Amino acid sequence: MKKGYNIAIDGPAGAGKSTIAKRIAEEMGFIYVDTGAMYRAMALYLIRRGIAPDDTERISGLCKEADISIEYRDGEQTVLLDGENVNAYLRTEEVGNMASRSSAVPAVREKLVELQQKLAAKADVVMDGRDIGTVVLPDADVKIYLTATSAARAKRRYLELQEKGEQAELSQIEQDIIERDYRDMHREHSPLRQAEDAVLVDSSELTINEVVERIRELCR
Ligand code: DC
Repeated sequence: MKKGYNIAIDGPAGAGKSTIAKRIAEEMGFIYVDTGAMYRAMALYLIRRGIAPDDTERISGLCKEADISIEYRDGEQTVLLDGENVNAYLRTEEVGNMASRSSAVPAVREKLVELQQKLAAKADVVMDGRDIGTVVLPDADVKIYLTATSAARAKRRYLELQEKGEQAELSQIEQDIIERDYRDMHREHSPLRQAEDAVLVDSSELTINEVVERIRELCR
């Protein structure tokens, strides 16, 4: 089966992956696949059932029952959990923290990687996550490892929250980012790392347009 044209973007939380991936997908007429949203939907499923983040055994068993699917409505990815559009519930700190823990469970990864590979096999995609270039799409046509310093990422998140009128402390945000990086990079299964054939892009001192241009160049 001929696969679609696949662009893989990996990197730590807050490096700008989703903003950049969405822009590239729009420009190239590709589908943007946000794999973090799938791990978040699984986390929401577990939270709703009152599962503790460290209860690996129950997570392994229960995750098999979660019905997670993806639809595209007007170019936007919609995550359906047991048929319900759950997009509005995925971006909270609670869900993010649960996702960071439950995504370390092999049964969760197995299930979601399969879904991601199916999506990439039938369409041209820009897919972002942590293990896209290393595990999900090892044969991707273009692989980017997009990163930024924890200070730069914390500042972006802080400004985002301020804009929404939410209170936050910059040092606490940076601390959370450092802890999440550590968990994502040190878990046993599919840890976050740069694929050997991925191009490193550090967005700390770059604008969104500059990062997009760099990726455009690589695709050319
Ligand atoms: O990118 P995000 O913050 O929406 O991701 C949520 C969590 O899911 C994050 O802690 C790491 C995990 N994740 C993963 O393990 N593999 C992916 N491909 C995408 C996300």
